[in-house]
Amino acid sequence: MKKMDCVRWAFHYGSWFPTQSEWIRATQCVQPEEKTRIARFVYKRDAKAAICGRLLLRKCVQEMLQIPFEDIEISRTEKGKPVLTNQLPESLANFSMNISHQGGYAVLAADKHRLIGTDVMKVEWARGEKTVQSFFQTMSRQFTTMEWSFIRQPSSDWEQLRRFYRLWCLKESYVKALGVGIGFELQKINFLIRTSELNTEFVVRDTQVMVNGILETDWIFEETMLDDCHCVAVAIRTRNKEQTDNLEIDKTSKFKHLTLHDLVWTVEPIFEPDLENWKLFDSKNENQFVQHNS
Ligand SMILES: CC(C)(COP(=O)(O)OP(=O)(O)OC[C@H]1O[C@@H](n2cnc3c(N)ncnc32)[C@H](O)[C@@H]1OP(=O)(O)O)[C@@H](O)C(=O)NCCC(=O)NCCS
Repeated sequence: MKKMDCVRWAFHYGSWFPTQSEWIRATQCVQPEEKTRIARFVYKRDAKAAICGRLLLRKCVQEMLQIPFEDIEISRTEKGKPVLTNQLPESLANFSMNISHQGGYAVLAADKHRLIGTDVMKVEWARGEKTVQSFFQTMSRQFTTMEWSFIRQPSSDWEQLRRFYRLWCLKESYVKALGVGIGFELQKINFLIRTSELNTEFVVRDTQVMVNGILETDWIFEETMLDDCHCVAVAIRTRNKEQTDNLEIDKTSKFKHLTLHDLVWTVEPIFEPDLENWKLFDSKNENQFVQHNS
């Protein structure tokens, strides 16, 4: 596939503690309705996650489709999936992009010709849960019997959590590619995993999905670790059987880790600086547990 036909980008917003100029610059580069939405977040961390998602989307459209930054118009479907509203030539009618932000990462996956969905999750102990097993109990309906037996195979809680979040990402990436939201019956989809471990070196592509007991042969799933504790999945719907024939570990379609410079200083600001927006952001706590910029 040609360069820039598909993009996989990740940005670690968890280690970004914006200065005044960085935050103002970032808010100058997103659409007003998104800036307003982001200003409503109670905590800095959520605002950072959301703004990074928007910046990833706009940068990707600029670079993949060569649409001038100020002309890019992104709206949302009724279910909330961001879609490009600019008129595109017939050859790009299937352009698709999707973002996810969780833990410390914002990720983007985009493809010029194939439907796409992505999800990132931090593997971590669920706050407020006494044990991993009680946490799993509350989540029992999200996965099938076969998936739970895969999750519970390893003896250690940590390994079980890694498998749990891996399957979570797979389900979400599939649901997000389809663009459907909460309410989708997750028991209908059952993932068949062949490569049991993920790592940061390789992209695993041999996982398949069954929907209502039938193997879906037109989907590819790319899975990898961004670091030791963030797993990511990309669901891609292919129209051409050839594209699914080569189900193997792929060393090339890895996520590229972007810097803040990539995100805000390689695009042109489209709006005036807004000092009030920065003051509001700066007055917030980082999250519900951390009060200051640490
Ligand atoms: C709406 C939903 C898809 C969002 O996913 P999430 O895991 O909460 O959050 P993520 O960080 O992965 O993704 C959020 C981004 O996805 C995009 N998004 C929102 N709705 C979407 C939809 N219906 N389809 C695809 N993408 C969507 C948005 O860009 C959003 O970020 P933004 O609002 O800042 O622009 C999800 O909440 C949902 O409805 N899931 C249903 C399936 C489910 O219950 N899964 C449980 C786990 S097994």
